[in-house]
Amino acid sequence: TTAPAEFAIVPSSRPRTTSERAAALDRLSFGVEFTDHMARATWTVDGGWHGHRVEGFAPLELSPAASVFHYGQEIFEGLKAYRHADGSAWAFRPEANARRFQASARRLAMPELPVEDFLASIRALVETDLEWVPATAGASLYLRPFMIATEPFLGVRPSHRYEYLVIASPVGPYFVNGFQPVSIWVAEDYHRAGPGGTGNAKFGGNYAASLLPQQTAYARGFDQVCFLDAGTGTNLEELGGMNVFVVGADGVVRTPALTGTILEGVTRSSILTLLADQGTPVEECDIPLKGLLAGIRDGSVSEVFACGTAAVITPIGRLAGESFDVTVADGAAGPVTERLFSQLTDIQFGHAPDPHGWMQPL
Ligand code: COI
Repeated sequence: TTAPAEFAIVPSSRPRTTSERAAALDRLSFGVEFTDHMARATWTVDGGWHGHRVEGFAPLELSPAASVFHYGQEIFEGLKAYRHADGSAWAFRPEANARRFQASARRLAMPELPVEDFLASIRALVETDLEWVPATAGASLYLRPFMIATEPFLGVRPSHRYEYLVIASPVGPYFVNGFQPVSIWVAEDYHRAGPGGTGNAKFGGNYAASLLPQQTAYARGFDQVCFLDAGTGTNLEELGGMNVFVVGADGVVRTPALTGTILEGVTRSSILTLLADQGTPVEECDIPLKGLLAGIRDGSVSEVFACGTAAVITPIGRLAGESFDVTVADGAAGPVTERLFSQLTDIQFGHAPDPHGWMQPL
């Protein structure tokens, strides 16, 4: 590995006052408040990555011809910085996000950012905006690295110029009710991603494709949409922005296998590790919707939950589609879901040992 790039710090000319920041940190939902700074770097064909810096959070100036506006070359990441009791700030498995960002870049024909530079950008931004890492229980600083194609060119080919940015948002829970069971609408007419497509890249277009079915789910009074695989239309894939797990009454925990169309969640992988640590049998396999519904009805499925960086671990209490509407067990969070939520968040907030070295000081 080479030494990470140096991110020059150019302080914001208009940082919020202490009381403005306190007010912003006082009413946290998800993704509406932003810190005073952002990290960035530029990539060009001739110059590679350069111009690494942290500067004031501000609108970008881009040509209306910038290729991101036309053909959607955009990838992103999501990770969090957590405040520990001694005041220090820690990131959860940031190298996993750095590697996934590289994989997404390869799929979208974009330049890879070195892992060390991704980590350095996170460190530089969090150091600059350290006061923005919330100290309230359950809150954290959500970091959103992303890359866009900025070359002003309308031909359909990979851009010759890109901008990498990291913005930061102090957040509370993704769902307004926090750790309360959510209801899921299963989309049967639309798919999120197909075989050979971009489903396992963290690519804006995947989320754009999820919005219409998600809107249908909201309109029917549900909290989230769940997609089935495009190949057969029978197996569970993932929700609009989170992975899904099913807990059997026999103690086996199942999650859809990574077939190339599913986002390889860092929280998903951490849950698999936590379960393996405690000797729980886990299976990454096909989860047919039909079998899941039968299992929920006959009691052989005891819990269903969603997971992601933003959603953490969220119980799913109800699952419905055009021809079914079932409540999982008694509709409340189950013991496996509750235990995993505490185990994971205890590690993240520094309340429990971190045997896998997942937490990185910032
Ligand atoms: C995350 O969980 O970090 C994501 O990127 C998902 C998004 C829907 C917020």
